[in-house]
Amino acid sequence: YQPRVIAFAGSTRENSYNKRLVAIAAKGAREAGADVTVIDLRDYPMPLFDEDLEAREGKNEHARKFKKLLVGCDGILIASPEYNGSLSAVLKNSIDWATRADEGDPPGSLPAFRGKVVSIMSASPGGLGGLRGLVHLRAILGGLGCIMLPAQTAISSAHEAFDAAGNLKDEKQQQQILDQGRDLSSFIAQLNKMDF
Ligand code: FNR
Repeated sequence: YQPRVIAFAGSTRENSYNKRLVAIAAKGAREAGADVTVIDLRDYPMPLFDEDLEAREGKNEHARKFKKLLVGCDGILIASPEYNGSLSAVLKNSIDWATRADEGDPPGSLPAFRGKVVSIMSASPGGLGGLRGLVHLRAILGGLGCIMLPAQTAISSAHEAFDAAGNLKDEKQQQQILDQGRDLSSFIAQLNKMDF
């Protein structure tokens, strides 16, 4: 069974450290056999969620595409920046949109997050590496029914952590992020063998 994985950063910034980080995890997942699609949330510009807007216009087309990707995957890799001690508004807004049903959804459409295996990580120039945001992200996705893998990594001093090729200079950190991707893929493959 080939696990289908969606990977993205909670930052739309071009030189985002979290984009670099999730690319490493995606590599690890691919090496373990997963079919990984890395997306950039900048390609899915969703307006700030507003129930009146939703009632008027239904789900935004980018929100619908984003949700479809999630519904069709087994696992998700997220590298989440920390803004003011929590996850970025872009990431939370995307999650909020993806949890909404819409008339445009195919009949019997499934929830975006329930039962998905998720591995999370963060990078920040600060000393805590965005760890506080991961606490919130873990709680939010756990509440939506995701199977949250216990391993997580917060990369501090992110402005000095990557080499020119986008890899982490610290071998142990590089391995840890590769392993998060690998373990996600292996876990999904194992899960698929079980007969619930
Ligand atoms: C930040 N940053 C930040 N960093 C951190 O470790 N803890 C924090 O609470 C915050 N708060 C915060 C708020 C806002 C509004 C911004 C714009 C930034 C710094 C942040 O980690 C840094 O900009 C990262 O580079 C963002 O991640 P990407 O875009 O590099 O992935």
